Amino acid sequence: MSNLRNVLHLRPIRSMNYARFLTAVSAARKPSPIRILTELQQRSPPSLISLAGGAPNPNTFPFQSASIKVKGGEALVMDEPLMKRALQYSGSYGIPELLSWMKDLQKSLHNPPTAGYSSERGQMEMCVTTGSQEGLCKIFEMLVNSGDNVLLDAPTYSGTLAALQPLGCNLINVASDQHGMIPADLRKILERWDPADAQKPGSSVPRVLYTIPNGGNPTGASMTCERKQEVYELARKYDFLIIEDDPYYFLQFQKVSSSDLSLYSQRPWAPTFLSMDVDSRVLRTDSFSKILSSGLRIGFITGPKPLVERVVLHIQASTMHTSTFTQLMVSQLLHNWGPGGFLKNKLIYILDGFLSFSPVCFVDVAEWHPPMAGMFLWIKLKGIKDTQQLIMERALEKEVLLVPGGVFNINSSDPCPYVRAAFSLSTPQQIDEAFRRLADLIKDAM
Ligand SMILES: Cc1ncc(COP(=O)(O)O)c(C=O)c1O
Repeated sequence: MSNLRNVLHLRPIRSMNYARFLTAVSAARKPSPIRILTELQQRSPPSLISLAGGAPNPNTFPFQSASIKVKGGEALVMDEPLMKRALQYSGSYGIPELLSWMKDLQKSLHNPPTAGYSSERGQMEMCVTTGSQEGLCKIFEMLVNSGDNVLLDAPTYSGTLAALQPLGCNLINVASDQHGMIPADLRKILERWDPADAQKPGSSVPRVLYTIPNGGNPTGASMTCERKQEVYELARKYDFLIIEDDPYYFLQFQKVSSSDLSLYSQRPWAPTFLSMDVDSRVLRTDSFSKILSSGLRIGFITGPKPLVERVVLHIQASTMHTSTFTQLMVSQLLHNWGPGGFLKNKLIYILDGFLSFSPVCFVDVAEWHPPMAGMFLWIKLKGIKDTQQLIMERALEKEVLLVPGGVFNINSSDPCPYVRAAFSLSTPQQIDEAFRRLADLIKDAM
C-alpha cells in the first residue's frame, strides 16, 4: 500500500472546494444551539452543573442497570450511573469513547493521508450513524440535486437506489464484472465531458460516484487495487467525490493465520479508496451490521471534515444521535476486546462449504463467480430471460426464496436473468437443498 500512496503522492494534491458539492438544502443547514450545548456537556467534567438543554431526569426512567453476557467472555455491565448516561441524549457525532476507538481503528486499517490535514483541507473526520443506511441517505441528500448525473455500477444495493432515485438524479450505470467497476468504461462515459468544465457553475459533469468495493450487494464482486487506483485518478481528473460503501469489508474471505491477525496493523486486503485519498474526496461508510449486530444499528461515516460536519447538522435536525445505549454497549465491547481482539474475533468467516459450491445439479442450468467477500452469490440462470415470475411465484410454491435480480437494477422492470442468493443464514445442507429445488424449477422452465 505504501507504494500505491507514493505513486499518488507524485501528483500534485488538489485543493477541494467542498461548497460546490453541496445541495442548497445542505448548504442552508445551521448548527442547533441546543445540540451544541449537549456536545459541550458531553466533554465537561461531572462537576459541571448544567441548567441548559432539555434533558429529562433519568431518575424518573424505569430502567436501572444492565448486564449483557458476551459469548465466551465477560459480561458488559452497565451500573446505575452508566445506565443513566445510556438512557440520556448524547452528542450528534457519537459518544466520544466510541468515536475515538473507531478513529484509531480507521487510521490503523487504512492509514488515510487525510488524518494529518488541516480542517479546511479536508482532515479525516468521523461520525456515528444509525446503520450505514442512515449515513448513505444523508450523504446523498447532502450532495445530489434533482437532474444531477450520478455514477454507479448497477446492479447495486436496492437501499442505495431507494435513497437516490427519489432525489430525481440521472443514474449513469458504469459497467462492472466480478472484479467490480470497470475503469475503462468509466473513462469512456466521462469522455462526454471536458474536465475543465467540472468546476464551472451549472456544469453537468458528475460530482458523485458510488460503489460497493467489497462483496458487492448483490453481485458479490470485489474491486482490485489497480481498478480502485484508476477510478481514483479519474475522480481527480474530473473532480468528483467517491462514496465508498463498504459494509462487507470485515467479511473478506482470505485465509490468514491467527498470528497475522494478532498483528492488527497487518491488513490482508486490497487497499481502500480511503487509504489512497490524497485529495480528501472520499466519503466512506462502514457498518457493524454484518459483524456485531444489524439490530443495534451502528454505522460510521469517515470523510473530509467539511462534509462530515454537514451530515452531522442533518443528524442534529433529524434523529439527533444514534441510540446512546447501543453506542455504549458496543463501545464497552470494543474497549474490552481492544483493536487486536476485535479483528481476531470478528474477521474472516471462511465459508468453505459455500465458496467451493458447485453442486452437480446446478452447473448445467446456471453461471456464477465465487465471491471473495460479503454474503451474496449472484447467479445467472441459463435460458431464463427474467427471473421475477420464476422466483416470486414458482419458487415460493417449491418453498425456496431468493431475490429476483431486477430489483437491483436502475430500472427494476427491465428483464433480468439473475437471482441473488444469501449464504449467511442457512446451513450447507439447506443451501444444497435450496439449489436442488431451484435447479428443478429452471429445468422445467427451460
Ligand atoms: C451495500 C450495502 N450498504 C449499506 C447497507 C445498509 O447496512 P446497515 O444500515 O445495516 O449498516 C447494506 C445492507 O444490507 C448494504 O448491503
